Parts: sequence; C-alpha cells; structure tokens
Amino acid sequence: MASETTLSSSSEAMRSAGVAEARSALPAESRAVKMVREVFESGRPLSYIRSSEEQRVARVLTDAGTKLLASGPMPVWTWSLTEGMRKANRPVEGPQTPRAVLDFIIAHPDAAIFHLKDFHEPLRESAEIRRRVRDLYDACRDRQKFVVISSAVRFIPEEIERSIVFLELRPPDFLELLDYLRDEIREARAQIAAGDSEAVLHQFARALQGLTLDEAGYAIRRALAFNRHLGSESLPALLEEKKLLINRSGVIEYIPVTTELGEVGGLETLKRWLTQRRKLFQMRDSLTEEIMPKGILMMGIPGCGKSLSVKAIASHFQLPLYRVDMIEIFSGRHGKPEGVFVETCRTMEEMAPAVLWFDEIEMGITSSESGGEQGRMFAFFLTWMQEKARGLFVAATANRIDLLPAEMIRKGRFDEVFFVDLPLASEQIEIFKIHLNRRAVDPAGFDLQQLTQFTNGWTGAEIEQCVISAVTQARLEDRQVTEQDLISIAVKLVPLSRTMKEQISHIRAWAFERAVRASPGR
Ligand SMILES: Nc1ncnc2c1ncn2[C@@H]1O[C@H](COP(=O)(O)OP(=O)(O)OP(=O)(O)O)[C@@H](O)[C@H]1O
Ligand SMILES: [Mg+2]
Repeated sequence: MASETTLSSSSEAMRSAGVAEARSALPAESRAVKMVREVFESGRPLSYIRSSEEQRVARVLTDAGTKLLASGPMPVWTWSLTEGMRKANRPVEGPQTPRAVLDFIIAHPDAAIFHLKDFHEPLRESAEIRRRVRDLYDACRDRQKFVVISSAVRFIPEEIERSIVFLELRPPDFLELLDYLRDEIREARAQIAAGDSEAVLHQFARALQGLTLDEAGYAIRRALAFNRHLGSESLPALLEEKKLLINRSGVIEYIPVTTELGEVGGLETLKRWLTQRRKLFQMRDSLTEEIMPKGILMMGIPGCGKSLSVKAIASHFQLPLYRVDMIEIFSGRHGKPEGVFVETCRTMEEMAPAVLWFDEIEMGITSSESGGEQGRMFAFFLTWMQEKARGLFVAATANRIDLLPAEMIRKGRFDEVFFVDLPLASEQIEIFKIHLNRRAVDPAGFDLQQLTQFTNGWTGAEIEQCVISAVTQARLEDRQVTEQDLISIAVKLVPLSRTMKEQISHIRAWAFERAVRASPGR
C-alpha cells in the first residue's frame, strides 16, 4: 500500500509534521522487491516480468537478491541481444546468441539471477529456444538459479506457460521511489539541503508517487536544472513536471492547490465536518473500516463553491488533488469508457494518499437500472468506493442531482452528501471580504451589510465577478475601490437565481430530504 501523508506544495511540505514517524513505520522493502523475492523464495525458477522499465527491473532483481542467500547478495547477470552478457552491470565475456545464453545458464554451477531482456522475440521465433527454456526450468529448479525475462509486451508460448510465473510491476511505491531518488541524487552529485536531507527526500518521494521510475527521473532532473541544491524549494519544479506527466493521460489532471479552507466563505457545517474528518483521515491506518473517511458528494447550485471547496479539502488534508474528467472518459478518445474508468480508478489507488475529485459525476454515473455500460460502471464505482485504498478521499461534485441514482446518495457510499445552496447574507459578506482582500482592497470601511440588500440570491461566483468589475473600474480611473463601485455594479446584475428560478427551487426541493446543508440556518 502506498505511503503516508503526501505533500502537494512546498508550503504544505513545510507544514507537514510526522516525517520521523512515517520513517520509522517504513517497511523493510518495496512492494516490487517483496513480490519478486517471494516468487524466488517459493522456488519458481522462471519468471516473466512485463515492464518497459528495464533499469527498474534490474534494480528490483538486485535488491530481491540481497536477502536470498546467507552468504551475501546473489549475483545478477544480464543478457540482451545487443549488449551480450553483463554481470553486476559490467560487460563480461559470455554468450551472444539466445541459444548460447540458455546453455550458459544451464551449465552455470552457482546460485545467481539471470535477467534476459526482450527475450520474448527469441521465444516467439524459435521452437528450439522454447524447447531449451523447458530444459532450463529443470536445470534451475532447486539450484538457487532464477531466470527472469523482461519485456514491454507479454508473450508466453503455450509450451512454457505452466513453468513460468508472469508478473507485472505496479507503479513504484514510496520506498522504491525513495531508494531511487537517493541513488539518482548521488549519481548526479547534487547537493541536498543541509539539516534534514532525509526529510527532503521523503517530501520528494511522496510528491512523485504515481509516476514510473523513469518519469520520476525526468522530474528530478527538472528540479536539478532549476537548482543543483535540492531542498523544499525544489518541490514546485518537481510538481510541475509531475503535472505534465500526469496530465498527458488526458483523463486525470493533477491540480496544484493553494486554496485554504479560510478562502471559502460560509459553508460552516461543511468546514466543521472536514476538520473533524481530517483528524480521522490522518489516523486511517488504525481505524476500522466503518469510520474510515471515504469521501463526500457535494451537489448544489452552480457557482456557490463546490469546486472551491474540493480544492480547500485537499489543502486542508495536506494531500495532492487529482481531478478525473468524466466528459473526457466518455469522449471515447481514450478507449472504451468503461475500461478507461476502471483503469483510472485503479491508477488513482497507486497515487494514494490523495484527494480524488470526480467533477460532474452525474455525467458518467447514472442509474444502474439503465443497464449496459453506464450501469456496469455505476456498479463498479459503488464497490470500488467501499474497497479502494485507504488513503484515497473521494470528493464528487454534481449539479444535476436528479440524474444521480438513489443508491449513490444512500448513506454508506459517501460519508456525507452535502447540499451547497446560495449563500446567506452573512455568508455573502464573508465572500465579499475574501475577494476584496485577495485583490488588496481593505473592506474595513465598507458597509457590506447594506450591500447585501442589492445582492439577494447571488452566488459566490457572482460576488467575485462584482468585485472584479469594481476593481477593474477603479484601476481604469486610477483610484481606490469604493463601496459605491460595488453597489452600482450590483444593481445592474441579474443573478442566475432569478433567471433560473424554477431550476433552483427544483434543486432545493430535491436536496431538502436527501442531503445535509453545507451551511447552517435559513
Ligand atoms: N463560498 C465561496 N467563498 C468564496 N468564493 C466563492 C464561494 N463560492 C464561489 N466562490 C467564487 O466563485 C468561483 C466559482 O465557484 P466554484 O467553481 O467553486 O463553483 P461550483 O459550485 O463548483 O460551480 P459549478 O457548478 O459551475 O462547477 C470560485 O472560484 C470562487 O472564486
Ligand atoms: Mg465546479
């Protein structure tokens, strides 16, 4: 399972506590090394690892070999058609052809690991090779000789299928990333912040979770190009590269967040709930399944702060935020939507701990009664919500709540279903203050209470727009923003709640019985 607290910006990194605790709780070996070591220990002499990261496979084999023999690390021989034989990564005299390498292994008297790169080609092409691999199986069994074929594609001929273990490497876990970073930084002869360099490495490894080792390598090189002296201030460069790599998929978007809970006006019930859940979330490894925070569903009137709240959750929980684009999934550009959705959910588990945001979830998840692909996706989603990795907190947002199936809203799937309504007058004042302050306008002298007479039924987004227009007007005229600027804009604005009166009362009526109001009162 993935590691503990993840950091999503350098300020979060600085705020993060518990590095020391996390360190002492680290397992002795990475998930990948453990998997391979266990295969070796179970006495299976032949394995096939599908991975395009050959160097990673080599690292994993070397590490898995360190504990197999009491006398010391097990030697690792590597063979490829282009480079011939290498031992401990140095070229040695040895067999060149696929047939010769199999003979070499069969004749080899001592315990060793043999890593055969891209051996699927010889297997595919030659019956003789396939026959010899079967001999190899007998020659290696019970002799502490392990043969590992690695290839980016899976090709296992029928004759040898029963003798070979097929393995796939999942993305590197925290520990594997940590070891890799340590080596990369040493090799690059880069300097790392004096003081607690381990803490910096931990921050980096957490930030890079979800990437392959090769990708983590690009990210670290980008950070080094920015500054050869690595410290918390290198994190933004690292995260920028991660953002590019993750976003390349087109379905998952990494969203760097800086929104604090304090930048959300109102919604006190939601905020209180989140603060309590943060505590539980941080204790997740010691909690029973029922009280483990799983996620929330937020529905409500457009422009009232759903997306904003999701960002605030991520920063409040000190977790990175990933947004899943349901429309992209359904576009068909990435393959069959059902498969893409399942794959996306699985990938996200590798990124845990994190906040996973399904925006406009009603676009993809409609009733299972409808059957077909959507129904299957919905059924999958419900099960997945129950079983997913502990460190994933799902934040789903929806506007068209009536499209969501009843099972989705039923208690137990999400921890809570919140309804985000139009802000009350007192909340509007808070929102005005937040947006004025953000634009360096001091609202101390403004009578915001009076202003709310003109903003009845406004959304948070409309308040923000009003502030932006007022600031623009004042800047154009080269003067300070006044309360009058806000009022003159307010009287002219026709709020969404007036033009969409019916839809809004429909949403409200619907949510009344089914959701908890995100703000108290009314
Ligand atoms: N409660 C709030 N406090 C502060 N700002 C707010 C609030 N609600 C909305 N805003 C402002 O309005 C903008 C739009 O809000 P947001 O994107 O969160 O709305 P939403 O509920 O997700 O709407 P949609 O349904 O259209 O996605 C925010 O970026 C923020 O600047
Ligand atoms: Mg939104």
